[in-house]
Amino acid sequence: MPNRERTDIAFELNGRSVEVACHPLTRLLDVLRVNLGLTGTKEGCGEGECGACSVIVDGAVVNSCLVPAAQVVGCRVETVEGLVAHREGRALQAAFIAHGGAQCGICTPGMLVAATCLLRRRDRPTPAEIREQLAGNLCRCTGYVRIVESVDAAAVALVDGREEPSS
Ligand code: FES
Ligand code: FES
Repeated sequence: MPNRERTDIAFELNGRSVEVACHPLTRLLDVLRVNLGLTGTKEGCGEGECGACSVIVDGAVVNSCLVPAAQVVGCRVETVEGLVAHREGRALQAAFIAHGGAQCGICTPGMLVAATCLLRRRDRPTPAEIREQLAGNLCRCTGYVRIVESVDAAAVALVDGREEPSS
């Protein structure tokens, strides 16, 4: 018989306090998409392999399909919806649009999340560092070149004090 135990899971989400009543082993991915209606975080493989479900927990990129809700109690969680509140997120969004870093878009939220973490700690990452940071995020459409170019363009814009890539 399934265990229907529910508990209150309280954490900070994109700068706001939230509380959700769910089973403690509910995937963070489902808490975000189903309980809280934030569907920007995508499900690809559901097995920790593709990075589509990437979110930031206490400053680190995690696969939300592998994280039980109980593990984020008291944590600071950021999803793609919250990134526009930060200059790195805005610059990345503009650069992905300008440089064709998104095609079907399934991988894009995870790419933006992972790239945001990189640009928060490195002003001007090399292409190799960008590829390393995005190694856990799979894309079936772009061949990665335009994604790396997008992240690089966002980094350049931020160093120049802009949030839009130069034309
Ligand atoms: Fe989580 Fe693929 S859906 S890693
Ligand atoms: Fe389609 Fe990356 S843009 S999977």
